[in-house]
Amino acid sequence: MSSTTRIALIGCGAIGTSVLELLQGDVALEIKAIVVPTDALASAQATAQRLAPRAQVVSSVPADGIDLVVEAAGHAAIEAHVLPALERGTPCIVASVGALSAEGFAERLEAAAVTGGTQVQLIAGAIGAIDALAAARVGGLDTVRYTGRKPPHAWKGTPAEEGRDLGALTAETVIFEGSAREAAMLYPKNANVAATVSLAGLGLDRTFVRLIADPAVTENIHTVEAEGAFGDFELTMRNKPLAANPKTSALTVYSAVRALRNRVAALAI
Ligand SMILES: NC(=O)c1ccc[n+]([C@@H]2O[C@H](COP(=O)([O-])OP(=O)(O)OC[C@H]3O[C@@H](n4cnc5c(N)ncnc54)[C@H](O)[C@@H]3O)[C@@H](O)[C@H]2O)c1
Repeated sequence: MSSTTRIALIGCGAIGTSVLELLQGDVALEIKAIVVPTDALASAQATAQRLAPRAQVVSSVPADGIDLVVEAAGHAAIEAHVLPALERGTPCIVASVGALSAEGFAERLEAAAVTGGTQVQLIAGAIGAIDALAAARVGGLDTVRYTGRKPPHAWKGTPAEEGRDLGALTAETVIFEGSAREAAMLYPKNANVAATVSLAGLGLDRTFVRLIADPAVTENIHTVEAEGAFGDFELTMRNKPLAANPKTSALTVYSAVRALRNRVAALAI
């Protein structure tokens, strides 16, 4: 590996653009390629000119000259680009962790990494305490609960609208209770945090999820509660959204940049 880590960034939307902003001028982490679908090449080119003028903007990950792939683009992009990169032996960092809720998909990623003799790293993204949860699992976990609380309008276009007028809610209303697997099927656009908590803890079937529409809140609030041999914890996050995509927390970008910096840092935390 050269002293500079050469990166292919998949996706140039809200997360991808913010990652490019934060990595500007970083000598240890060089964005070599930005990978987007053909119809998004022109707008990604404009972003690259501004933030990463030396990067090539392409529709697939170059087969040579890439040390690390970072994905911020969704399920289809993992299929198209991350699986083949892993099979070729290139390590990958994945942000679209919700995609791993699909039946057999986590196993396919793992198998691709085994084939390539490399590793796929899932970022913690919008949620914290993933280190504590994954460490607690070593000693044994009894229960893990995730509660997602959002203003009613944030649940528009989801099954939460069935049989109720979200705009008329005057008190907090539980719109879903069940396993993380069921939550991912019914609320796929909200799957990232529940999937991350599940993968770090008790898995999709044993992680209890509660989704709440609350007219008293303006932010998206995530709570994780876990109990096990280690003791117990409760964590609540009130994340600020990215201006470019209100559905994405700014913390997700910082989490991706942290993962990248930890790859090259002499002291990683
Ligand atoms: N882990 C977390 O906590 C967390 C939090 C927020 C978002 N995410 C995930 O990160 C991903 C990106 O989020 P965003 O807010 O930047 O989205 P966005 O819609 O702003 O940007 C998506 C980008 O991906 C590109 N893209 C789409 N399909 C592609 C493909 N097949 N190949 C290559 N590029 C493709 C688009 O052109 C666009 O540039 C989403 O999948 C989202 O679910 C994860």
